[in-house]
Amino acid sequence: MYKQIGILTGGGDAPGLNAVIRAVVRTAIGEFGMKCVGIEDSFEGILGETQTMKLTTKSVSGILPRGGTILGTRNRGSFVKMIDGKPFFPEMPIGEALANLDILEIEALIVLGGEGTLAIAEQFHKRGFPVIGVPKTIDNDLAATELTFGFMTAIDIATEALDRLHTTAASHDRVMILEVMGRNTGWIALHAGLAGSADLILIPEIPFSFDSLVHKVIAREKGGSRFTNIVVAEGASEVGKSATYADKGELRLGGVGEHVRRRVEELTNKEARCVVLGHLQRGGSPNAFDRMLGTNFGACAVRALANGLTGNMVALQAGTITTVPLSEACANIKTVPIDGQLVRTARDIGISFAAPKETKIER
Ligand code: F6P
Repeated sequence: MYKQIGILTGGGDAPGLNAVIRAVVRTAIGEFGMKCVGIEDSFEGILGETQTMKLTTKSVSGILPRGGTILGTRNRGSFVKMIDGKPFFPEMPIGEALANLDILEIEALIVLGGEGTLAIAEQFHKRGFPVIGVPKTIDNDLAATELTFGFMTAIDIATEALDRLHTTAASHDRVMILEVMGRNTGWIALHAGLAGSADLILIPEIPFSFDSLVHKVIAREKGGSRFTNIVVAEGASEVGKSATYADKGELRLGGVGEHVRRRVEELTNKEARCVVLGHLQRGGSPNAFDRMLGTNFGACAVRALANGLTGNMVALQAGTITTVPLSEACANIKTVPIDGQLVRTARDIGISFAAPKETKIER
């Protein structure tokens, strides 16, 4: 049994990180008698003059409903370099980190992160250091788990935004566009679009055409609905075009909503407005589901370590928490199946994805 384990959070924050931290600490101390050390600012905290904090049942008291992460996080750090679009893990920082972990008497790590952070965690495992990963991202795009914590809270926030846009759209007979996050997947847009009764959902997996989009707006107009609500995933793009970037160098997506707004005004003569929901989807308190999922993930991660497992990630499969190798967890991104049940349901109830050949009788 390990005497002391470390825990860190990496990548973009997500509601529920503190729920996981609390569960890890309570399980490690209460169930297995292990001590816990929090590593600050992702893997960066184990470099140079290390930055860590002692975690006790008392120090994690009250953090369950709190947004963000008490440990701090970093998007990119010293552990990975991109060469020709591919990640490369230089030997130097990992060697230094392993030596520092030894000095700090941390014998194993629990790493909370998305695909990028978990790929770094795998490098520690490959060098013989025990690691268990916990999947985190509001985008829900990790292939090995049905759900990541933070996703359900993001959907709640996007749905509430759509509800609010609905009433103002209807009052002004406008086209309202809500741009949501999700990187190169449309999970948030699809789920929130269904829950928030969007008329059009634009996702990266189904490239859209303005002809089809305008057709839907006009058909609604003719049917007596003089307003239209559109939810667009930040990674969505027009047929044959690439995604829109707020910062191309950093590959930071953003701006497709405003592009759609401008074109809608040009093509329909209707007033259109765009709202970018942005980091409101990530900040603040996790909903009940994410608190529960995060807590379950955290406790299961400690149990996995205590059982001698390493190089794995906890994952939700068929309603139960299981473990999968980190290599598998990082290998693929989970995209929305374009002929899947949810897309079909959306189409059945009259939602358009503005695909080029999408023709639907307006109801
Ligand atoms: O992966 C989570 C996410 O919120 C994406 O949906 C978004 O594209 C990205 O992170 C934004 O990250 P940041 O603003 O931290 O660079």
